[in-house]
Amino acid sequence: MQQLPKIPNPKVLVGIETSDDAGVYQLSDDLAIVQTLDFITPIVDDPYAFGAIAAANAVSDIYAMGATPVTALNIVGYPAAQIDASLVAQILQGGYDKLAEAGVAVIGGHTVDNPALIYGLTVTGIVHPQKVVTNSGAKPGDFLVLTKPIGIGAINHGIKQDKTPPELVSTAIEVMTTLNKAAAEAMLEVGVNACTDVTGFGLLGHLHEVVAASGVGAKVSASEVPILDGVLDLIEQKIFPGGARSNKRFADSFTHWHEDVPETVRIALCDPQTSGGLLVSVPKEKVDSLMEAMQKRGVKWAAIIGEIVAEPIGEVYVEP
Ligand code: CO
Ligand code: CO
Ligand code: CO
Repeated sequence: MQQLPKIPNPKVLVGIETSDDAGVYQLSDDLAIVQTLDFITPIVDDPYAFGAIAAANAVSDIYAMGATPVTALNIVGYPAAQIDASLVAQILQGGYDKLAEAGVAVIGGHTVDNPALIYGLTVTGIVHPQKVVTNSGAKPGDFLVLTKPIGIGAINHGIKQDKTPPELVSTAIEVMTTLNKAAAEAMLEVGVNACTDVTGFGLLGHLHEVVAASGVGAKVSASEVPILDGVLDLIEQKIFPGGARSNKRFADSFTHWHEDVPETVRIALCDPQTSGGLLVSVPKEKVDSLMEAMQKRGVKWAAIIGEIVAEPIGEVYVEP
């Protein structure tokens, strides 16, 4: 997309030139639409759970922009000769129910015969043009709050090799099917400086986008980052996706690793997430109210993991 001509349009408030979570288009003085799409290949055996995960994952970018999701369209591809339509129906049901929980109306979709099974959605949200939360507003002194634990990539990789313990599979499904709705409502109630959601680039990759776009740096306390129990064991056994390795290679270019941070933890901090949590940059004086607002809404995993510093711009210190 970087090859595409950039045609200035004053109504495009957030477009392709930034690495933000979704595009924002202004319709009137007090209304903008926020649009995103996401689709994934199956990660768990249960088709209903897979549908719910894909839906929670797709709608997450709307929450990360501080917007309210309103409508969605299904995107489905499957090898019709090999997969029974009833299985696809279960996937769609999982997505439909998850979006109903989010208060989103599914108003259509498109299905194609495709060698690989894919499912996802386009999601449209609404927001006041002045209340869009982007990834570029983080300020020195802000605290960083992460709302879901990490390690989903390693867990999903282990599922494919039958190496992930069953209880870890159910925890991961619970994490991935949890909407970022409550966390986003808490952040909007308190007022924050920046937000993104943690997905394919891993915690550090998405934090890098925030600090680079905001012209600041960050410090992360590795021991404060919630890593799902059992994930470091998987990583120790070299069970993690190739994406974690390539994310780590990129992270090495902007991260100052404290020597006491073990390699397994470094990989976990770069592990690609599906339907990950929100990463919020909140003024220090508001962090207690934010944590309280999260707790009140049942966001049980929220943790303060670090802070924003003035410099070096775009870089991250990871301490033990
Ligand atoms: Co995102
Ligand atoms: Co996305
Ligand atoms: Co955003």
